[in-house]
Amino acid sequence: MELEGKLNGELNLELTEQEQILKLRKELHQHNYNYYVLNMPTISDKDFDMMMHQLQDLEKLHPEMADPNSPTQRVGSDLNNEFVTVQHKRPMLSLANTYNQQEVSEFYERVKEGLQGAPFQICCELKFDGLSISLHYEHGSLVRAVTRGDGTQGDDVTQNVRTIRSIPLQLPQGAGYPDEFEIRGEVLMPWTSFERLNKQREENEEPLFANPRNAASGTLKSKNSSVVAERGLDAYLYYLLGEGIPGDGHYQNMEAASKWGFQVSKAMKLANSLQEIYDYIEYWDTERKNLPVATDGIVLKVNSLAQQRSLGMTAKSPRWAIAYKFQAEQAETILRQVVFQVGRTGAITPVANMDPIQLSGTQVRRATLHNADVMAQLDLHVGDHILVEKGGEIIPKVVGKACPTEPGCPKINFITHCPACGSKLIRYEGEAAIYCPNETGCPPLIVGKIEHFVSRKAMNIFSMGPEIVESYFKQGLIHDAADLYTLKAEQLLNADKTNEVSVNNILNGIKESKNVPFERVLFAIGIRFVGEIAAKSLARYFGSMDKLSTATLEELTQVNGIGEVIAGSVIKYFADERNRTFINRLTKYGLQMQISQEQQEAKSDRLKDMSIVISGVFAHHSRDEYKAMIEKHNGKNVGSISGKTSFILAGENMGPSKLEKAQKLGVRIMNEEEFLQLVGEQ
Ligand code: IVH
Repeated sequence: MELEGKLNGELNLELTEQEQILKLRKELHQHNYNYYVLNMPTISDKDFDMMMHQLQDLEKLHPEMADPNSPTQRVGSDLNNEFVTVQHKRPMLSLANTYNQQEVSEFYERVKEGLQGAPFQICCELKFDGLSISLHYEHGSLVRAVTRGDGTQGDDVTQNVRTIRSIPLQLPQGAGYPDEFEIRGEVLMPWTSFERLNKQREENEEPLFANPRNAASGTLKSKNSSVVAERGLDAYLYYLLGEGIPGDGHYQNMEAASKWGFQVSKAMKLANSLQEIYDYIEYWDTERKNLPVATDGIVLKVNSLAQQRSLGMTAKSPRWAIAYKFQAEQAETILRQVVFQVGRTGAITPVANMDPIQLSGTQVRRATLHNADVMAQLDLHVGDHILVEKGGEIIPKVVGKACPTEPGCPKINFITHCPACGSKLIRYEGEAAIYCPNETGCPPLIVGKIEHFVSRKAMNIFSMGPEIVESYFKQGLIHDAADLYTLKAEQLLNADKTNEVSVNNILNGIKESKNVPFERVLFAIGIRFVGEIAAKSLARYFGSMDKLSTATLEELTQVNGIGEVIAGSVIKYFADERNRTFINRLTKYGLQMQISQEQQEAKSDRLKDMSIVISGVFAHHSRDEYKAMIEKHNGKNVGSISGKTSFILAGENMGPSKLEKAQKLGVRIMNEEEFLQLVGEQ
């Protein structure tokens, strides 16, 4: 795909600003495609950023030219997205599954019979393991993206999909696509993004995603499109629909779509015989392990659209296509023991120790048993012959027994007391995990809490890694995070794991952490469920640890994004005398226990107790800026209009359904100028 004209990003002074906007958008779309689809950037990241900034600046000057498909919109927004359910134009069917050569051959024979001996080709493709998406384009612009849902209706996730860089927002003019068409494909989270995300979540004490599919699905349904933008989703397209699509061949149509700018898998191949299909399956069964994204099988499709139509559908799936699912790699071994690991949140994970076996090219001696329910279902005994699998999940898991337990093998039960501290274990309502509740006395929990406290997004005492924390704890130098502020050079010099240079680094890091703003201190102390974002909202709303510590459930749930679970956890935290003592010590050591003077001065109660909906496109400030203003003046920004909405801050082009709802409920609509006057920002 080539774009006419010079792509140098320099502002052309002969063009009007409006023309420059259009030119920059076109160039940035092309560079985006070169980078994310072709993997062949033609300009440096720096030049790309520079062009993006030029475009952002120009768009600010020309709000009348706002375009949801502008490359600047790829970063998303943290405004609450509401997903509207929409009907699919054409139902999104699923595929029948096959698991062996025999079933593939039966499919082939059925097709042959159905086509009454006419020659046919089968298009072989990878089966991507993500979630399916339907994209609609009108005159080359992405207008709607919808999840599969139940096949007849799905969620409109357009705003989130716009942040996926390999999905074109605007196709180049004159590339030959029809005026209107639909293209379907799979949204995926590449392995690298998945690993990065789970690492981050581990640091933030958030539950991990079991596999990239769950991560992609959770991400695409996020209410916050800036979160989606950060998570590095990708997409492969595999099905073109609509009138006026190029030709009768599915394979050829996908080649055309690739030329228009869509990411189409290079692994597609036309097969002329059953043997060629088997060869394809065999090749990709191993080769798929080198791909950047997860696949769980092969899809076989009759290539001719006319032949597809003549074969038709069953109630659930087409007769012209089938999925062949790869076998998850499985092996048999002997269970020797189950150990119970205590995580830093206190969650207990049963882990099977077994005789070593080879799985997906690595030697495996341990496999997860997930939780007490899974373990009970497996009914395990020492000496059992067990089956271990490495499937979509990265950690091997025990999936069952290879044969019944032999007599005399002792049964393995879930423990009742913590293996690290002996406390009685508990199960929180609605959770599968069993926990050690001894947050202040159980060593792995304490070490975990201190590790979290010093971590980058919390107090950022970067000179102290987990190894040092654990070692100092074991040596009795620290018993909790507050003890860090009592450490002396002499103590550290004699301690294991330190040398003179790092003593200074560590002490400096600890000292500097006293300047870390209140919102991060709040995150660092590790109140259950209070992640980075909740800590920020709570800090801004209450302004100080003192105020927060006495807040009621009603007050806490007033804060944007704080529901009853987080609110309940905050209350429980401050009700515990030990936590209050801990906070008092941190205060004494000089940590920031309130928001800064600057932040305080700017705050007001002008919007106190008000629920405000933002809608439309604005001239003076961005939506994010308005959202920040609402929070600053103690208001609450909400996503949807209800009887409780105080008013709607409306810009240009407010959605017709919102307008209708507002009028019906008699909710006041306020324009930008009135709002700015109200909050005194004019
Ligand atoms: S074609 C009517 N092609 O597998 C045929 N599907 O159970 C429509 N999938 O929901 C699907 N890779 O999410 C097709 N190359 C591929 C695919 C693929 C993954 C998913 C898709 C679909 C499911 C079928």
